[in-house]
Amino acid sequence: MNDDRRVDEHSKDKQLETFRRETGEELTTNQGVSIDDTDNSLKVGERGPTLLEDFHFREKMTHFDHERIPERVVHARGSGAHGYFQVYESMAEYTKAKFLQDPNAKTPVFVRFSTVVGFRGSADTVRDVRGFATKFYTEEGVYDLVGNNMPVFFIQDAIKFPDLVHSIKPEPHNQIPQASAAHDNFWDFISLMPESMHMIMWVLSDRALPRSYRMMEGFGVHTFRFINAAGKARFVKFHWKPKLGMHSLVWDEVQKLAGKDPDYNRRDLWNAIEMGEYPEFELGVQIIEEEDEHKFDFDILDPTKIIPEEMVPVKIIGKMVLNRNPDNFFAETEQVAFHPGHVVPGIDFSNDPLLQGRLFSYLDTQLIRLGGPNFAEIPINRSACPVHNNQRDGYSRQTIDKGRTNYSPNSLGGGCPMANPENLRAFTHYAEKVEGHKIRKRSDSFKDHFSQATLFWNSMSSAEKDHIVSAAHFELGKVQYKEIRQRMVDLFNQIDNELAKRVAKGIGIPEPQPVAQNHGQSSPALSMENTVKDTVS
Ligand code: HEM
Repeated sequence: MNDDRRVDEHSKDKQLETFRRETGEELTTNQGVSIDDTDNSLKVGERGPTLLEDFHFREKMTHFDHERIPERVVHARGSGAHGYFQVYESMAEYTKAKFLQDPNAKTPVFVRFSTVVGFRGSADTVRDVRGFATKFYTEEGVYDLVGNNMPVFFIQDAIKFPDLVHSIKPEPHNQIPQASAAHDNFWDFISLMPESMHMIMWVLSDRALPRSYRMMEGFGVHTFRFINAAGKARFVKFHWKPKLGMHSLVWDEVQKLAGKDPDYNRRDLWNAIEMGEYPEFELGVQIIEEEDEHKFDFDILDPTKIIPEEMVPVKIIGKMVLNRNPDNFFAETEQVAFHPGHVVPGIDFSNDPLLQGRLFSYLDTQLIRLGGPNFAEIPINRSACPVHNNQRDGYSRQTIDKGRTNYSPNSLGGGCPMANPENLRAFTHYAEKVEGHKIRKRSDSFKDHFSQATLFWNSMSSAEKDHIVSAAHFELGKVQYKEIRQRMVDLFNQIDNELAKRVAKGIGIPEPQPVAQNHGQSSPALSMENTVKDTVS
């Protein structure tokens, strides 16, 4: 590998330095012309009309008129921080990813924590999933681990994502309610989507009310792949564990805070870093041998399932320290573009159908959010190692590509970068053997929607159970349609009769009788008792 790809803890910072601009110098236009008055527009006489030739006024106003970009379609409200990642010991046995080899190397990172549903200006402390996205600026290119603070997701197939998000965002006719799951459309959708019930248990739990971004876990959710230098592949699940432990707020606190200090989590993160109380997270992995892919009684490609830590322990492999606040919220936190498809050699995808769809969605949305195909040149998104290719032009192109050729193959040279088949460090997609018919069908191995929801409920302490039931009362108590509330009680009844009865009591639905649970499989996972108990604060 060329030396110019070398990246250390400070590389990204040095790169950002070349884009930073101090304020306080003499005022100029964007063309560098000095300006002596920015308080009065150019007029005919003191009381006369304003002149169109006032280029300073026009430039200032035009720039202002264009200051906003579309907010993210989900995860609009977020907070970012810089830091570094360091592996504890070489992971060469499992992956050739360069940033996971040398315990002495520190890889720069940028992290963005977010809520999912609310608008950019909404409150931090709402009942919601939290995003936990990490950009690693490695010497082999950018790697993004785009995770959440819950280990499972609502849906199994990406084609349902637009429906999920339409149902949870404010209703289209009146934009109500803004940042809460407490509404008819969402619960209507969920009541018709049994696959969401495991995630719904997490969302109704205290996990959805983190006290601090420094005090929550993160999960890659999907099963990914590690590939080592010999080409051997294993499945992997990613976990972030906060050094401060996990802590949640209670419902009464979040409601008051949402009014009194909507920036509660954002301020906490900022202040902690300013005071030198640097947030730390350990990275953990669950590694599954390829030959064990089918040994579980759930499908490891199903993103509504965890792999219980009792079955596959989490191996802690490194730590991340967040030690610097951004200089500019818009330039960094708003313009950062994460993408689960940003991988480096040694990390690859699985066939999880949710992940496969995400691989399309992020680049697609960023093309519109960040105004065209050149957003990888925005300072926060730039790879810390060099980029060479034949992509050219487009809105706001920054790079001045030299040379007469920009196509491949070519025989004229002229500075055109060429793919090098001899480069053993290049990314090669894992040559998984796949065959089958083209069909639109969910795998039968994805059919058990309730066993792990039951597992979650059984792992809760009595106080945690009370919180889940109260959350269900609050959420479903606002649903106007009795049929929706009834369907939700029926689904809770598939998880646990006591849970369903307690929920029913608070929302005007008759207490249900126990039902034979339809878990879609003959043998629910026996060894999964108490899976999550110890990890819930
Ligand atoms: C953001 C799509 C599932 C984590 C986004 C964005 C889109 C999107 C379009 C906005 C990106 C941007 O404007 O830059 C999808 C689709 C999904 C899906 C189509 C399923 C099919 C998930 C899952 C996770 C997740 C399962 C967690 C494992 C995130 C995070 C962000 C995000 C953390 C915010 C990134 C940031 O801070 O900028 N998603 N998402 N998403 N998504 Fe997903």
